[in-house]
Amino acid sequence: MQSERKRIGWLEDIIESVHDGILVIDSSGIVQLINEEYTNITGVQKEQIIGRPLLQVRPGALLPSVMKSGKPREGVFRKERDMEYVVDMAPIYENNEIIGAVSICKSITEVYVLSKELKQSKQRVNQLEKTVRRIHQAKYSFSDIIGKDPSLQKVMTQAKRIAHSDLNILINGESGTGKEIFAQAIHQESNRNAFPFVPVNCASIPSSLLESELFGYEAGAFTNSKQDGKIGLFELADKGTLFLDEIGDMPLELQAKLLRVLQEGTFRKIGGLIEQEIDVRIIAATNKDLVNMTQKERFREDLFYRINSVHLIIPPLRDRKDDIPELASFFLDSQNVQIEEKVMDTLLQYDWPGNIRELKNAIHYAINIADYNTITFDDLPQSIKIPFLQENDNLNAVQSLDTLIQETERKAIMEALQQTGVTVNGKKAAAAQLGISLASLYNKIAKLQIES
Ligand SMILES: Nc1ncnc2c1ncn2[C@@H]1O[C@H](COP(=O)(O)OP(=O)(O)OP(=O)(O)O)[C@@H](O)[C@H]1O
Ligand SMILES: [Mg+2]
Repeated sequence: MQSERKRIGWLEDIIESVHDGILVIDSSGIVQLINEEYTNITGVQKEQIIGRPLLQVRPGALLPSVMKSGKPREGVFRKERDMEYVVDMAPIYENNEIIGAVSICKSITEVYVLSKELKQSKQRVNQLEKTVRRIHQAKYSFSDIIGKDPSLQKVMTQAKRIAHSDLNILINGESGTGKEIFAQAIHQESNRNAFPFVPVNCASIPSSLLESELFGYEAGAFTNSKQDGKIGLFELADKGTLFLDEIGDMPLELQAKLLRVLQEGTFRKIGGLIEQEIDVRIIAATNKDLVNMTQKERFREDLFYRINSVHLIIPPLRDRKDDIPELASFFLDSQNVQIEEKVMDTLLQYDWPGNIRELKNAIHYAINIADYNTITFDDLPQSIKIPFLQENDNLNAVQSLDTLIQETERKAIMEALQQTGVTVNGKKAAAAQLGISLASLYNKIAKLQIES
């Protein structure tokens, strides 16, 4: 008897500690036991129900009929106040005889609330993803790239051809040649164009921050980190394109991490434990000579080969000056403004160290400065005028210096020839005496119109 009571006490403890609500009736349909969770779910207190017929307290109860039929029932949906729950019911057998029945109630309100929250969060994520795509959209396409020069056209053809592939691309070119406009156009042309184009300038972000910018961090990864953690640019660019501008300036230790991401197709946030899969195409750009940098061990060779599946080299503007008139009128933006002939001559002669960006800025500057609808030489930025101003100002001095040099040369050549004679051998000796080649002596004789 003692051990029987002990056993029941023990069972009651177990039943109390179960997370589901439990109700037990005996073979007469009298409630023998409920646990605390049953009260939590249904609101029925022990003193209201224990020792009383279940159907009296809860007229709609199905448990007595389950007991009678001897067939268990599962997943019966119930709602009480604002609590929703699912009930499993089963008869209790002893020696093949039904001695009672048990109800097990699982609250689904909590799950329901969570799933509703999850649905709302998913909607928000969708909206945010749309916003991200809108913000991180490529502005330019190939039709925005102006220029008919064969050297540029060749790069365009190459770029269009590989745009649809998933190959990583390295774009080389001097400052302002259009590396970014090319990167955007490739993304726009690719199958990834519905997803973000995310540019990151490896040179302008301090190297201590670059890693967290690229990979993000988990909540509380380090002091001063944002409470909710941070999404990295890699994750932001998922399914799209990550444009790593000025990649030559990426610190070596970060190059190693980038290489791993490219090799594995996964990354881990700072302070994170989980490797996340990522599908990002890399377009990298630099005005540096990466081959030279790999030789000096300032750029990882293995990373170089990873990003250099395709290498596009954009020619500088000074090597495709034929494109200047078209570019200039493009940057005039179809405003009713003319360019004076002398200005066009200047633009064609100038060396353009800042390439197309410099030309674009110069035209925009001149449009703002010009008094009437015509851009004159005076309207050009000082940096472009200076080389030509000096040449004009010193025109007389240059000419007289030139004359002086020519006169000196003529005198020296004539004196030498007088000594050596004008035969071929004589000219050879004169050239040697003057320290110039025979060919350049003949050139000078012709140019200076020396009789010989
Ligand atoms: N072929 C082109 N046709 C029209 N606009 C161009 C062309 N190339 C460049 N541009 C314009 O010139 C400017 C500079 O181009 P972009 O930023 O792509 O150069 P970049 O090579 O990335 O320069 P940097 O090395 O300084 O970053 C941009 O405003 C771009 O729109
Ligand atoms: Mg750029």
